[in-house]
Amino acid sequence: MDFNLSEEHQLIRQGVQEFCDKNVCPIAEEVDRNQRYPEEVIKKIAEQEWMGIYFPTEYGGAGADMMSYVIVLEELARACSSTCVVVSAHSSLAGYPLYKFGTEEQKQKYLTPLCKGEMIGAFALTEPGAGTDAAASTTTAVLDGNEWVLNGSKIFITNAPVAGVHIVFAMTDKSKGTKGISAFIVPCEAPGLIIGKHLDKMGIRGSLTSEVLLKNCRIPKENLLGAEGQGFKIAMMTLDGGRIGIASQALGIAQAALDESIKYSKERVQFGKPISTLQPIQWMIANMVSEVQASRFLTYHAAWCYDQGLPYSSQAAMAKLFASETAVRQTDRAVQIHGGIGYIKGTKVERLFRDAKITEIYEGTSEVMRMVIAGGALR
Ligand code: CAA
Repeated sequence: MDFNLSEEHQLIRQGVQEFCDKNVCPIAEEVDRNQRYPEEVIKKIAEQEWMGIYFPTEYGGAGADMMSYVIVLEELARACSSTCVVVSAHSSLAGYPLYKFGTEEQKQKYLTPLCKGEMIGAFALTEPGAGTDAAASTTTAVLDGNEWVLNGSKIFITNAPVAGVHIVFAMTDKSKGTKGISAFIVPCEAPGLIIGKHLDKMGIRGSLTSEVLLKNCRIPKENLLGAEGQGFKIAMMTLDGGRIGIASQALGIAQAALDESIKYSKERVQFGKPISTLQPIQWMIANMVSEVQASRFLTYHAAWCYDQGLPYSSQAAMAKLFASETAVRQTDRAVQIHGGIGYIKGTKVERLFRDAKITEIYEGTSEVMRMVIAGGALR
């Protein structure tokens, strides 16, 4: 057993940190304040080959492993979690199902531009009445000659306003339950695909989230992804990998909260000495260091399982559950350590506090993570 990162992974971390110091940190506060999609940074991330880092080079990816992807996301989130989720939803939720279930032609047409960052991807599963109960989808897809006709509405779709392609889930046969759901590749220019209301979020405000409406949306017959009726499995398998990405994001947020807390507690003087010398602060820092490290081990282990070709559904759920709850606790502690200044808009810990919460919700709530973990343990 080796707990050290390989030289290659250490170099990736160093490269992402330098990139973030130069390109991401300087705009993170402004991106959050203005709900601005950081297009210029995403272009630079694409130049680094991080938009498809764990996909093969033959599809425009960097041919690296899941561990490399985790490090990229962790460091991006440490700087700006909005930027991080743009990359993770794009890669894990749009890139992965295309890679795993797409035909060669679909991969060439959609995965390659995604990996190169020439096109952004989105994943449209959630509906107003089908959130945690993903199988309760009411969006329908009916074959009409050589075209599928989709009708329904999706909500909380990350990247939707900037996406060139959406992976959409719809019922092709309601009588078959989860086996009646199918997955579709819907390009943004498909007639009847409408980007609905922009959603004004508490955190990760630089990542754009909106409704996606399908009104007699027509796509070619060959845009079915995987087999008809395979959609629920595709969604679940996609989310298994996505949860490693969200665990990485939560880890980066928690690490940033710790970094800020250490720095501030050494600078802030009360009772004639830095507050870092006071036991209540030291105890908080000790808990933070321990929990961040535990999150890191769980997240890296889930990535390692993926890279080894081992089952990783429960491992991803454990990593996401623990890392996201850690991120929420750590950012709360970080605001507490900062006192009044931590409650003021524009301070990094105030942003981290708001950004952390979503990691307990999207790509499966903490309650869903517990269902998945218990399901695995009790099988
Ligand atoms: N891999 C492969 N197959 C799986 C699977 C997995 N991880 N999980 C379930 N399945 C299969 C089951 O084996 C079963 O197949 P069979 O019928 O052949 O046995 C089938 O799927 C149905 O499984 P369940 O009976 O367990 O399904 P369920 O309806 O009870 O749902 C659930 C279980 C875990 C609650 C699931 O609905 C779930 O994960 N819900 C949360 C959805 C979610 O994470 N949504 C987030 C949306 S994405 C997002 O956040 C947006 C963004 O842009 C960031």
